[in-house]
Amino acid sequence: MSNLKPVSTFSFAGHTVRRMGYGAMQLAGPGVFGPPKDRDACVAVLREAVASGVDHIDTSDFYGPHVTNQIIREALHPYSDDLVIVTKVGAVRSDDGAWLPAQQPQDIERAVHDNLRNLGLDALDVVNMRIMGDVHAPAEGSIEKQITALAELQRQGLVRHIGLSNATSRQVAEAQGIAEIVCVQNHYNLVHRADDALVDELASKGIAYVPFFPLGGFTPIQSSALSEVAQKIDATPMQVALAWLLHRSPNILLIPGTSSVAHLRENMKAAQCVLTDDVLVELDAIGGGNGEH
Ligand SMILES: NC(=O)c1ccc[n+]([C@@H]2O[C@H](COP(=O)([O-])OP(=O)(O)OC[C@H]3O[C@@H](n4cnc5c(N)ncnc54)[C@H](OP(=O)(O)O)[C@@H]3O)[C@@H](O)[C@H]2O)c1
Repeated sequence: MSNLKPVSTFSFAGHTVRRMGYGAMQLAGPGVFGPPKDRDACVAVLREAVASGVDHIDTSDFYGPHVTNQIIREALHPYSDDLVIVTKVGAVRSDDGAWLPAQQPQDIERAVHDNLRNLGLDALDVVNMRIMGDVHAPAEGSIEKQITALAELQRQGLVRHIGLSNATSRQVAEAQGIAEIVCVQNHYNLVHRADDALVDELASKGIAYVPFFPLGGFTPIQSSALSEVAQKIDATPMQVALAWLLHRSPNILLIPGTSSVAHLRENMKAAQCVLTDDVLVELDAIGGGNGEH
């Protein structure tokens, strides 16, 4: 691994962001519900992320709820002009932590105001509409009502840019008929590649694709083939999983989540991994790909 390779960038929401960002969901308590065990450690992770060059942070006011945004505010407010904070709306938490759809225009307006208040902002850089037709995977269905509501909040100056989460290609097209869409955040990683065609489609349109669960989510990816590749190139499996995503397409922006400064430092070095053609063939085979990415 070389120490010299710079992290590449992508034009996103009026900024040039580094492709290695940070996802803040892991900063809430267990099950993304309630406060974390060690709030100071969470503040430290966020400050370390920004100090290491992260200029794209992903969050939502339904993480906690409110907790993650409040920690971001404590750690980083007043925010640097180059920091892009992306949040999402479309769900609320029940008293026992369940994720409930909240997709009516009044729900969306309330969620935007919750994010503004808890992040301490007058306008949100990017708001992703988290589609909840099926909570776990993209499912067809019109999102006209939701995007029209977000576009109205954009017209009012409360939202600068609009994105989608858990979206199908058809929903992207429908939303683009109502507002400019700057990113799509769906489940995608080395072993979960259902969105291969969407990644390529969005790349051709210059739209960012932001995989959630880039490391596999709550149970990070475990694969002996991945571990063997990692050993071969003197990296860790998590670094290789992130490096594969960086290599996969130039419009992929990473938001790996961690509550640990040590893991953050490890993940930040993923951009330094050199993936040779041989290694890429081995990695593509893990997800059943054809090695032609
Ligand atoms: N739109 C959506 O529906 C949606 C859904 C889920 C997530 N997201 C967003 O996507 C972001 C990323 O997803 P995620 O955080 O759920 O999953 P992830 O990034 O795939 O993985 C996070 C998990 O990996 C562990 N981890 C991180 N770095 C590691 C390392 N170097 N070695 C070993 N373990 C490591 C973390 O534990 P430690 O804390 O111990 O490091 C945590 O358990 C979230 O922060 C959130 O912003 C969006």
